[in-house]
Amino acid sequence: MKTYLVTGGAGFIGSNFIHYMFGKYGDAIKIINVDALTYAGNLENLKDIEDLPGYSFVKADICDKDAITEVFDKNDVDVVVHFAAESHVDRSIRDPEIFARTNVIGTLNMLNCARSAWERGDGFKEGARFLHVSTDEVYGSLTGEGTYFYETTPYDPHSPYSASKASSDFIVKAYVDTYGFPALITNCSNNYGPYQFPEKLIPIMINNVLSGKSLPVYGDGKNVRDWLYVMDHAKAIDMVIESGRIGEKYNVGGHNEKQNIEIVKIIIDTIKDMLPEDDKRQAHINYDLITYVEDRKGHDRRYAIAPDKISSEIGWEPETCFEDGIRLTIRWYFDHREWMDRVTSGDYQKYYEEMYK
Ligand code: NAD
Ligand code: DAU
Repeated sequence: MKTYLVTGGAGFIGSNFIHYMFGKYGDAIKIINVDALTYAGNLENLKDIEDLPGYSFVKADICDKDAITEVFDKNDVDVVVHFAAESHVDRSIRDPEIFARTNVIGTLNMLNCARSAWERGDGFKEGARFLHVSTDEVYGSLTGEGTYFYETTPYDPHSPYSASKASSDFIVKAYVDTYGFPALITNCSNNYGPYQFPEKLIPIMINNVLSGKSLPVYGDGKNVRDWLYVMDHAKAIDMVIESGRIGEKYNVGGHNEKQNIEIVKIIIDTIKDMLPEDDKRQAHINYDLITYVEDRKGHDRRYAIAPDKISSEIGWEPETCFEDGIRLTIRWYFDHREWMDRVTSGDYQKYYEEMYK
């Protein structure tokens, strides 16, 4: 039975990954979810699996050496799946320090604790793997149609967030090169799906359309992102753990590039189509909700992943096309209004008012 230590499992992708893994392997695996429960972490995301015998939760900060060492001491961990991070670009522009602490120092601490736990003579525990979950933003911004991010594309991060993720990727690579540490890296494009915190484009727009609030589009709305349904990312991570080569990095994306303004219009049209015709919200749902606001500082223009390596080496392909994925996502937010009400209460209002004033 494989034991996974998942960091950041109460966040968006981490909680979807845990659902994916129990859905696929059932009681044949154990998962220990280690999360500090920052504003972005929510145990409600795991309510339906919290009683599974293979699941346990430890509230801990990834920078806390004693707490993480204790998790390794108490459990025979085979695989670390490292999601925990500060993940929002806008927050990194306003408060970069916490990004360096969590994303760089936190990753270093996870590597050190795993290295101590897994060291066996000159090598490491048989089969042990450390999967570092990273982003396509480390490659910077693409110019020119038909250009893509490959694993060989030089790093050129622009935001404090992407710089902190790039730094953490380099530290992971250094542990592979220096100690032969059994790590791998995935660099994924923009995810969307259930449980995403409404500070990111898609859940903000869904929530605002449903509440009749304006839809804040940065700059000219023509920045391009490459969107992937979160369960396809979860599947990629599992496949890289199983079949990826130690020390390698794998880009993850599904060739689904769209301008932000296209995404916003698709969300408006799809919600209109999915709501019953006599729903009173129909009256206010139209493109007039779109409001162009001040651009993000240092705003990357275009991201686009070339997933050739993960496809040819590992056989991963995305399964959910955007038309289906966005409907599944909107349906989830329709059915979880109380989740949205809870996460948008308290500090969120302050964040929103300051961010979009
Ligand atoms: P998220 O912000 O939704 O979740 C982050 C989780 O990490 C939260 O549960 C939070 O409580 C936890 N966390 C934060 N600081 C911590 C600390 N010091 N100790 C322990 N736990 C801590 O993020 P997400 O969108 O799910 O992203 C997860 C990972 O995937 C990140 O590493 C991110 O860089 C990467 N990634 C995200 C995307 C995307 O589109 N969201 C795409 C590619 C890669
Ligand atoms: O590419 C992967 C990255 O995708 C991840 O590493 C990050 O963790 C994740 O947050 C995401 O970063 P982005 O900055 O691309 O995502 P975000 O949802 O914040 O913004 C997507 C685009 O939409 C971006 O061009 C900015 C724009 N935007 C965003 C918000 C929140 C708006 O126009 N209005 C908004 O209100």
